[in-house]
Amino acid sequence: MLEVDDLHVSYGAVNAVHGVSMRAEPGKVTLVLGANGAGKTTSLRAVAGFHRPRSGTVQLDGVDLTGKRAHVMVRHSMVLVPEGRRVFPTLTVVENLRIGGYRASRAQVDETIEEVYSQFPILSERRGTAAGLLSGGEQQMLAFGRALMSQPKAILMDEPSMGLAPTMVDTVMTKVRQIADRGIAVLMVEQNADAGLAIADEVSVITRGRTVWTGPTADADRAAVRAVLGDAALDDPDIGIGREPTAGGGTGER
Ligand SMILES: Nc1ncnc2c1ncn2[C@@H]1O[C@H](COP(=O)(O)OP(=O)(O)O)[C@@H](O)[C@H]1O
Ligand SMILES: [Mg+2]
Repeated sequence: MLEVDDLHVSYGAVNAVHGVSMRAEPGKVTLVLGANGAGKTTSLRAVAGFHRPRSGTVQLDGVDLTGKRAHVMVRHSMVLVPEGRRVFPTLTVVENLRIGGYRASRAQVDETIEEVYSQFPILSERRGTAAGLLSGGEQQMLAFGRALMSQPKAILMDEPSMGLAPTMVDTVMTKVRQIADRGIAVLMVEQNADAGLAIADEVSVITRGRTVWTGPTADADRAAVRAVLGDAALDDPDIGIGREPTAGGGTGER
């Protein structure tokens, strides 16, 4: 179980995140919702070791990982699938996958690649293709596959459906569900709230850098989430409840 408690993260003097708490259980998907700029990416990146939190704790199966760097987090079985997928465009599909498994022996990597291919047949078909030539949906599958190469217990996903065609969004969400069903804890930020709610078990809502609501998906139907987010949900086109996700985001992150 991944447990994030009372996370505070700043960029210099700017307190982007001040009081974010989230949980993700093995075999479950926790969906993180919130307006553009609410602090979702900052929170995920701090949990995954790309920013050092000012305070708060990150624990995986009771082991305190707070403030560890990203490569250490990967060793402790937690991995981030970043916003925008960030596959290496000039490397082939299989080369991208090998990078995700850099810790393991050659034989172990080969075995894990076969598992990834069986989960994502399209990656097997495209194994020799440069990742930059894949469609957005295929690149997202590759980003998932690369994350799975480290055999994680917890996967953090930042807006996996961003920029994808509507038909591809459901395919990607189905894959997210399947990843969780294999016993992995998934913590997913997703602007497409409807698509996310369709596969999530738990929901956490972040407003202006703080967790304001957490509960089972059944209690987080559109009306409930809208009520929790209040006026922001009605006024802010970036929240994404029942709306198409907006491109870009303009969060100024690296
Ligand atoms: N590298 C950065 N430097 C300074 N401020 C940042 C940086 N990245 C994000 N922010 C600010 O932190 C807040 C949270 O951003 P972010 O975590 O990207 O939100 P979200 O992912 O929910 O859209 C925003 O106000 C954003 O402008
Ligand atoms: Mg973001």
